[in-house]
Amino acid sequence: MKILVTGEIEKSGLDMLREQGFEVVEKQGIKRNELLDLIGEFDALLTRSETKIDCELLKNSGKLKLVGRGGVGIDNIDLDSASEKGIIVMNTPDANTISAVEHTMALLLSLCRTIPNANDSLKQGEWKRKQFTGFELYKKTVGIIGLGRIGSRIAKRCKAFEMEVLAFDPYIPEERAWKCGATLVDDLEELLEKCDVLTIHAPMNAETKDLIGEKEISKMKKNAVIINCARGGIVNEKALLKALDKGELYGAGLDVFEDEPPKESKLVKHPKTLVTPHLGANTFESQKKVSIQLAEQVADALKEKSYRNVVNLPFEGEDYIKLRPFLELAEAMGNLHSQLEDAGKGIEIEARGEMEGRIKLVTVAFLKGLLSRIRDGVNYVNSPVIAAKHGIIVKQAKSFEEEDYTNMITVKSNGSKSEVLKGAILEGKKQRIVQLKEFNTDFIPAGTILLMENYDKPGVIGAVGTLLGENKINIGEWHLGRKSKGEKALAIINLDSALSEEVMDKLKNIENIISVKQIFL
Ligand code: NAD
Ligand code: MLT
Repeated sequence: MKILVTGEIEKSGLDMLREQGFEVVEKQGIKRNELLDLIGEFDALLTRSETKIDCELLKNSGKLKLVGRGGVGIDNIDLDSASEKGIIVMNTPDANTISAVEHTMALLLSLCRTIPNANDSLKQGEWKRKQFTGFELYKKTVGIIGLGRIGSRIAKRCKAFEMEVLAFDPYIPEERAWKCGATLVDDLEELLEKCDVLTIHAPMNAETKDLIGEKEISKMKKNAVIINCARGGIVNEKALLKALDKGELYGAGLDVFEDEPPKESKLVKHPKTLVTPHLGANTFESQKKVSIQLAEQVADALKEKSYRNVVNLPFEGEDYIKLRPFLELAEAMGNLHSQLEDAGKGIEIEARGEMEGRIKLVTVAFLKGLLSRIRDGVNYVNSPVIAAKHGIIVKQAKSFEEEDYTNMITVKSNGSKSEVLKGAILEGKKQRIVQLKEFNTDFIPAGTILLMENYDKPGVIGAVGTLLGENKINIGEWHLGRKSKGEKALAIINLDSALSEEVMDKLKNIENIISVKQIFL
């Protein structure tokens, strides 16, 4: 498989991929037009923040299966378009955390003690001390926006400097803030009014774009400092420049910019800013860690061994090997469901046992199986999007009925007749369909299956067996489900090969047979 690398990904991981037999093509700094022409040849694309992976690029993506982001931020990737195309997007969320934290602290300390300016001055032969008087962090208040991996570590480091730590993060429990010594505030305005240092550690998205603009800066203390080591554009650059020009802030430490590299930026040249060219993750340790972690994840995903840190899959870092039997069962059930007559588009799914609480996961696998019969290229990433386009609605169900199996998936659908399908994982991870319609069953959901409804009368089994034998069709397993003696029965016959139309017609004509259907799983 071919992997294109357009970002500054350290060598170790790329060597690892080559050793595993992948063809790795390095095109750092590639021009957009060349990338649009080339992308279709590759199975995976690895980048950092430099490549814009938008809808236009993804339209040309041909056989692309995976985008690997060496780092955290995925704001350079159109996630919806990638998901719709079934392209896996993965990142390395914690590999560069410490480096980003330390860079933030470096910017903060350097800015407060005017170290870069003092350094320049001394190197030019000057000896000025008064001009480079800074301020202490001790007893000052830091306001952290985004108390995730980076933000929470900033909190701990600021605590070590005996600072007061406030945090604004609407998506975390208060407990997370206590654990790192921060006080969570509900109101951004409160944080802005109280802090001497404002530092941003939230992701860039529609909600955080321009989060800190003119109005927000006006709430801050005169002589406060802003540090942005997250993403350019979370602090509006025009508003920041205006505030610095008007002397409303002491200064700003910026590692990230709205346009990278910034073009003719007054902010970069401003005497009150301390700037670095997106260096937060640039330490030897972090670059190696990012590269190796990304390579391992990419290799495993391309080999369908495991899926770690995929941002558009509901796997959340779980062990794919452990989940596999459940996902395969759900997928087979989706496939089977799609071949049942008038299965209906309103579906309810329930998962018990090891998959309880992982209904999202069961659902994507079920939908993959269901939709694979309708179109090609359906996978765990795009199945919910495609299902929605086909008007298929899946709801989570919870029944309180006693069941015979611990690990079970139940699917109910609202076709003309309401259908029930139950699958179970037995000991040794064996997959079985244990209920089909109103019949208790016990068959392996794989291969060619004959579903035959008949009246429970003597002679039916013999006649079917003879017909199949005459036509050299070998029977793997034969399961009979019936409600009670003499009533309707359902035979599920696993066949070694498919039946021709002619044999199917002959089967339908056997006395006491109600219906016959071939299912391919
Ligand atoms: P994270 O996901 O662990 O934490 C982000 C936090 O932001 C979460 O707790 C989330 O709840 C919070 N958040 C989301 N929306 C918010 C909002 N509207 N207001 C306040 N808080 C909000 O991510 P992380 O690993 O800590 O990284 C944070 C960001 O830092 C990344 O998204 C990335 O863009 C940036 N980053 C930059 C560099 C660099 O080189 N400068 C390196 C690594 C990460
Ligand atoms: C990130 O989001 O991880 C950073 O942008 C790091 C980087 O790739 O330089």
